[in-house]
Amino acid sequence: MLERFALCRRDTMSAHSCVRSAPLTPPLFEARRLSFTVDASALPVPWPIAFDHDRIAQVLSNLLSNAMKFTQANGTVSLRANWHADCVEFVVRDSGPGIAKHALPHVFERFWQAGTESRDGLGLGLYICKTIVEAHGGRIGVESERGNGATFRFTLPAGQPESDAGVEPVEHSRPEQ
Ligand SMILES: Nc1ncnc2c1ncn2[C@@H]1O[C@H](COP(=O)(O)OP(=O)(O)OP(=O)(O)O)[C@@H](O)[C@H]1O
Ligand SMILES: [Mg+2]
Repeated sequence: MLERFALCRRDTMSAHSCVRSAPLTPPLFEARRLSFTVDASALPVPWPIAFDHDRIAQVLSNLLSNAMKFTQANGTVSLRANWHADCVEFVVRDSGPGIAKHALPHVFERFWQAGTESRDGLGLGLYICKTIVEAHGGRIGVESERGNGATFRFTLPAGQPESDAGVEPVEHSRPEQ
């Protein structure tokens, strides 16, 4: 199944309301005995960047659900939003098992998963994050060390690209293996 999407930018929204609109809420973290903190205090409210609220909520939701899925009980997950001169930066950090160095270049690939033992999910979440962030003219990346948690960052630039056209289709079915 193929899905094409167009960006629907809206003017302003605080990071907090963007986080609230994501389906993952603090009680879900509590249920898994994870500490979850949000810090968007560095952002101006309202912030001066137009973006597609639903799609960015989807990016946050994918990153936070990964953090929740991979972090063991009593661990920590945090979401921080930073304001730079030319962009907003979101940072999702967890205290989970981290990602091996050799695997880092692959995590944003379609259908890529680190292990075969847990087939929870399809390996699509990060690919979708990258597609959405890049459609906004932003960048997404990860820093991690095995055993030391993972930090995912993405930016949304101030100023709008000339066109929102040309967003790649996202394929949802796993290819024949
Ligand atoms: N926070 C994290 N800590 C450790 N490994 C991670 C983390 N986030 C992603 N990964 C690794 O990257 C892989 C790809 O993540 P991605 O979100 O694309 O897929 P998924 O979570 O396995 O499935 P889906 O998102 O489709 O439900 C994961 O399977 C996991 O191996
Ligand atoms: Mg995922």
